[in-house]
Amino acid sequence: MIKKCLFPVAGYGTRFLPATKSQPKEMLPVVNKPLVQYGVEEAIEAGLTEVGFVTGRGKRAIADHFDISYELENQISGTGKEKYLSSIRKVMEEGTFTFTRQKEMLGLGHAILTGRTIVGNEAFGVILADDLCVDQEEGVMKQMVNLYNQFRCSIVAIEEVPEDEVHKYGVIEGENIKEGLYRVTNMVEKPSKEDAPSNLAIIGRYILTPDIFEIIENTPPGRNGEVQITDALLTQAKKGCVMAYKFRGKRFDCGSVKGFVEASNYVFENLYEDD
Ligand code: G1P
Repeated sequence: MIKKCLFPVAGYGTRFLPATKSQPKEMLPVVNKPLVQYGVEEAIEAGLTEVGFVTGRGKRAIADHFDISYELENQISGTGKEKYLSSIRKVMEEGTFTFTRQKEMLGLGHAILTGRTIVGNEAFGVILADDLCVDQEEGVMKQMVNLYNQFRCSIVAIEEVPEDEVHKYGVIEGENIKEGLYRVTNMVEKPSKEDAPSNLAIIGRYILTPDIFEIIENTPPGRNGEVQITDALLTQAKKGCVMAYKFRGKRFDCGSVKGFVEASNYVFENLYEDD
């Protein structure tokens, strides 16, 4: 049973400056809920109730968000405003939250390796909160956990993207074993259009088996001089098995201002419940 989910949240959020000058980008609200809470709710829905954050300096607001605010509780308890706290109360009841700091930003692979002390020696999920996935019957992580229970190997979520966007993603090549499921044979981090092996882009959902940690330790810096999880996964794919799964649902790239605004509009129109 997978119980743990890592959230690498150490990034600076430069694309959202000045909004992210003194607050974490993961706390920016998509309508009335911070971006990171959507990801945490998705993890908990999948049964991954032990949530681990790989954070950095200036990210304390995330830890405060997943803890009780006595002052607020005191003010709001017994009033008609309590309903506004219901979603975060539910998350706090169902999940546990652990924090570790990534002292230097050396890439996503390095961030995941930093989470090793939280994960230990078991399979775990990774959610990049920037990729907001909404409006499916079953969350993407839950879909992936179901697959993991069948295949028992690392899994990445993928989506078809236009050719001129492949340079933003890790891109896979694989043997199509059934509808929407590939056994990975190659993967490249942020390739040019010319070098991309396909247009199947990895989005920020992973299930990783714990042997990935040792592989990351032995993975040299790759694209942009950073330790890339994509490179480590390719090693794992060559040794054993990595699956790529075309998830059901809708994804927004909240790492870009455009995607963030689109997500906000979508959530407001389709999911937000006003009182
Ligand atoms: C990271 C990964 C990349 C993946 C992407 C998904 O890149 O390195 O392989 O496709 O997340 O969002 P980042 O967006 O952090 O540059």
